Order: sequence, then C-alpha cells, then structure tokens
Amino acid sequence: MEKIKLYTRFERFWHWTQMALVLLLILTGFEIHGNFSLFGFENAVRLHNSSAWSFMGLAVISILFMLFSHQYVNFIPTTKKLKEQVQYYLLGIFRKDPHPTTKSFYNKLNPLQRLIYGGLLILIFPVQIITGLVYMYYHYPENPVDVAGLQTAALTHTLGAFLVVAFILVHMYMTTTGHSLTSNVKAMITGFEKEEHKEKIEEKA
Ligand code: HEM
Repeated sequence: MEKIKLYTRFERFWHWTQMALVLLLILTGFEIHGNFSLFGFENAVRLHNSSAWSFMGLAVISILFMLFSHQYVNFIPTTKKLKEQVQYYLLGIFRKDPHPTTKSFYNKLNPLQRLIYGGLLILIFPVQIITGLVYMYYHYPENPVDVAGLQTAALTHTLGAFLVVAFILVHMYMTTTGHSLTSNVKAMITGFEKEEHKEKIEEKA
C-alpha cells in the first residue's frame, strides 16, 4: 500500500461546499414543496434562492478549475473495465475480491462512477438549473412563460430533486466501499489515500 495524493485543496473545498449547498437546497426545496416546516416558508424560499446562486457560482468556478488543472479527464466516460467494475459491485465486493481498478491523481473515478457522475453533471444539474431559473423568473401575469410551461418546469424540478436525493443515498453507500469503511471519506478530507499502486503521483496544487 502506498500513500498517494488524490484530491487538491480546491477539489476538497469544492466537494464539501457543494455537499453543504445541495443539502440546503434539498431541505429548503422540500419545505417549499410542503413536506415539512423547518425554516418557515418565506425563509425557505430566500435560502433556496441564495444557495441556488452560490451553487451556480461554485459550478462555474469549479468547471474553470477542472479545465485549467486538467482534472476534467477524471470525468471522461470509458467502457474499459466497466464490466469488471459492475461485477465487482454485484458480486466481488461480497467475496472480498480486490478492486478491479486503481485510483490515481488523474484517474480518481472508476468507469461506473464516470458514467454516473457524467450523467449527473449533464442531466440532473443543468435540468435543476434551467427549471430553477424558469421558476425564479416566472412572474405572472406579465411573464411570457405560460402556466403550462411553469407547471412542466415545476414538475421537472421536483423530479430532479428526487433524483438528487437518490444519487446522494447511493453515493453515501459507495463511500463505504473503499479499502476500509471510512478510507474514501478520509481521502476527501485529507487529500491522501492508501492505494495498491506503483505509479508516483506528483502533487499539482
Ligand atoms: C440540488 C439541487 C436542487 C434541489 C434538490 C432543489 C429542490 C427543489 C424543490 C423540491 C422545490 C419545490 C418544488 C415544488 O414544490 O414545485 C424547489 C423549488 C424551487 N427551486 Fe430548487 N432545487 C435545486 C436547485 C435549484 C437551482 C439551481 C435553482 C435556481 C437556479 C433553484 C430554484 C428554485 C426556485 C426558484 C424554486 C421555487 C421557489 C418558490 O416557490 O418561490 N433550485 N427546488
């Protein structure tokens, strides 16, 4: 086992800030939806709007960071070892088989994670942002967006919210499937992880 650098300081900041914002969006969003009362409706709307703007700002900064630091390569989908990875999660993990893939600074995500995160990036987040913006700027009766349009946006936004919750539940389970129950979470806190790996990784940031 070798201790390798996986996450830069910015990536850790991005991950935990995004997590806090998404949790706030879920809590305030479902309060707006009428599922429970926590902040009070008006505060929930205000908080939802401000965390949505912070979330979008963070997304812009993170995309620029990923592009300039070359870290975007981690999200490029691949089918290489995809079958092995699926078999591992379905069977191998329960037989304590070794992980079929290894992690490195420019290969942090396994083929299945690349597909799921890619799907999330392309589908859910732009969907939440576009429908959220329609929601935000729909001021009836003068607004050009008609009621049917708003209804579709609201339903899509709520469906997207359920998908985000589903993703988080699966994501939390996945964090426990590293070399130990907590190794993946620790890596996202410290930036380092113990990996059966030969390649030396240079610290970039
Ligand atoms: C993880 C991301 C997000 C989740 C889980 C989420 C969740 C929700 C939910 C459940 C509702 C209530 C929908 C309804 O009952 O019809 C809602 C409302 C809303 N969301 Fe989001 N949302 C997210 C991101 C965003 C973003 C990025 C924006 C803005 C660009 C946004 C803007 C709004 C607005 C304006 C409302 C309506 C608030 C009101 O009634 O005044 N949301 N959201």
